[in-house]
Amino acid sequence: MYPERPAGIAYGGDYNPEQWPREVHEEDVALMREAGVNLVSLGMFSWALMEPEEGRHEFGWLDEIVDRLHAAGIAVDLATPTAAPPAWFTARHPDTLPVGRDGVRIGFGGRQNACSSAPAFREATARLVRALATHYRGHPAVVMWHVHNEYGAPLGECYCEHSVAAWRDWLRRTYRDLAELNDAWGTAFWGQRYTDWAQIDAPRHNHTAVNPAQRLDFARFSDGQHREHYALQRDILREITPGVPVTTNFAGTVNCKSTDLWQWARELDVVANDHYLKAEQPDNHIDLAMSADLARSVAGGEPWMLMEHSAGAVNWQPRNIAKGPGEMRRNSLAHVARGSDSVLFFQFRASRFGAEKFHSAMVPHAGAGSAQWREIVELGADLRRLAGVRGSRVRADVALVWDWESYWALELDWRPSVDLRFRERADAFYEALWREHVTVDFVHPSADMSRYQVVVAPSAYLLTDASAKNLHRYVEAGGNLLVSYFSGIVDEHDTIHPGAYPGALREVLGLSIEEFHPLREHETVAVTGGLDGRIWSERIHPAGAVAEREFASGPDAGHPALTRHDLGAGTAWYLATAPVTGLRELLAGVLDRAGVTRPRGLPDTLELVRRGRHLFLINHGDEPVTVEGVTGTGVFDGAHHDGPVTVAAGAVTVVEEQSPHP
Ligand code: GAL
Repeated sequence: MYPERPAGIAYGGDYNPEQWPREVHEEDVALMREAGVNLVSLGMFSWALMEPEEGRHEFGWLDEIVDRLHAAGIAVDLATPTAAPPAWFTARHPDTLPVGRDGVRIGFGGRQNACSSAPAFREATARLVRALATHYRGHPAVVMWHVHNEYGAPLGECYCEHSVAAWRDWLRRTYRDLAELNDAWGTAFWGQRYTDWAQIDAPRHNHTAVNPAQRLDFARFSDGQHREHYALQRDILREITPGVPVTTNFAGTVNCKSTDLWQWARELDVVANDHYLKAEQPDNHIDLAMSADLARSVAGGEPWMLMEHSAGAVNWQPRNIAKGPGEMRRNSLAHVARGSDSVLFFQFRASRFGAEKFHSAMVPHAGAGSAQWREIVELGADLRRLAGVRGSRVRADVALVWDWESYWALELDWRPSVDLRFRERADAFYEALWREHVTVDFVHPSADMSRYQVVVAPSAYLLTDASAKNLHRYVEAGGNLLVSYFSGIVDEHDTIHPGAYPGALREVLGLSIEEFHPLREHETVAVTGGLDGRIWSERIHPAGAVAEREFASGPDAGHPALTRHDLGAGTAWYLATAPVTGLRELLAGVLDRAGVTRPRGLPDTLELVRRGRHLFLINHGDEPVTVEGVTGTGVFDGAHHDGPVTVAAGAVTVVEEQSPHP
């Protein structure tokens, strides 16, 4: 349920007016109108003002602001302020302050400073949300609810007494009895057998590795506690203001490891995501694209909302680098190209005080005379021209397997190599696909994949039997699966599948692995066909698969490095190393054999995405790029195209195509 208002693409951001006097509020609204702002998120961190003392609610100050925005035609995404409980609350309930894995309880003075399992926090949350929803029930400005802020970041797991009590309840609900838990956690090893539920603690900091199955369950439990805290609020909001969509903003799909967004997305009326560019990372627009594609994927392909990004520099990276000319526009339009129906920022006006005063905003400290404000106003105009994009879908022929549980499990202690990182592999494959101009969806390993021509599984370490069967079915029915090393190794309890690696995938890949041979830091091995591998090598024994390439040096010289297994109507590929270069060419070979069509001959600085009838061409390079064979109307300049279109360096062209792409 996407909010009905505002119409077209929503434009605006977090608005924190409590930092400013009334004159500034009036100027804010005038500036919002100048830029075409039509939606602001309000009240995110305002609990201390909404409830200055326990049970005394003060919404008058907020009414004035909401009414002023409404009079100006600006819709409100009203937040519940539970990410910042007030000082009086913490002083009265110090037991609600979260405890880290190291046993240290945090203090007041930051934010996200209450444990989602603490009963007093849940009670205070419910009371405040009920009062807020009742007060704003039927207010025409309030078009959606924004619960909390970025669950899981930075507060993922809490180790306080309330969490431990809730954890034991969770375990009792999850396991039939202690025998089942002992079995699932493999407590026969290191003499960890439990004989009473009360003996089970959270997997605290230890001087050695802690039981990995216990840690994996604790990650599931902790994420679930935040979801319960969200659902508590959502249910009250739905009861009091039915029909008003409820969301919470994800702390960056690709960057917040602690939240299983496949599960979260089911609980929201509309998926909302935050993304902050990693300023120093080369080609950081690829990480942005990945974040946007993952947001669209967890939203089930439905339009989603970019709830926060930055107009310029952030303030929390080692070096906070301002965006260059046109960069904010490219970033914003890339999110829209990949399915967002909104472009929202943190925050509207830059703060003069507090922790985030060096963070950029739509209105910078330099004010409305700045180049940045001009870009903000121009972007507002661009987004009005893009109104027709709203609601349309992005089609992808290739999918990448992404499973947070596997990500958690893979990165626990004592794996065969510290270089085995899920993001490292996922990023490598995504980047190669991005450079091939292939639009990617993400899928959970248990999802229906039949609509994809190619599915890539980068280090899918944890695979249940059911998911392995799902991949098998996909291939047999004609799919093309490409799996990278350290996949299909363990089940949902981090227990190795029986027999030789990769237990869950031996059949579909048509091979077994006798031994892992992780490479030393900086070591590389040669692979036939002009490829060098790093990180990984292993001894593969084909059992149905054929070797397409072999290791030419290192511990597995003369043995397969890339295999192909024709199975039923499809093919399963397996790549046993991390190519230093050449992954893109290797992947292109798989895409070609699978018949994946894509534009050819374009530089990999050009981002090309189709959303519904609209073709987005985003030039991240320093040279103009010409794309042949475009027929349609330029959305920004109204130009008619029938043939080549040239996109200037750093520019974005959007063409509404005449004949929609199949
Ligand atoms: C987000 C957060 C915002 C703001 C922003 C700064 O994670 O939700 O409130 O702090 O970061 O980049």
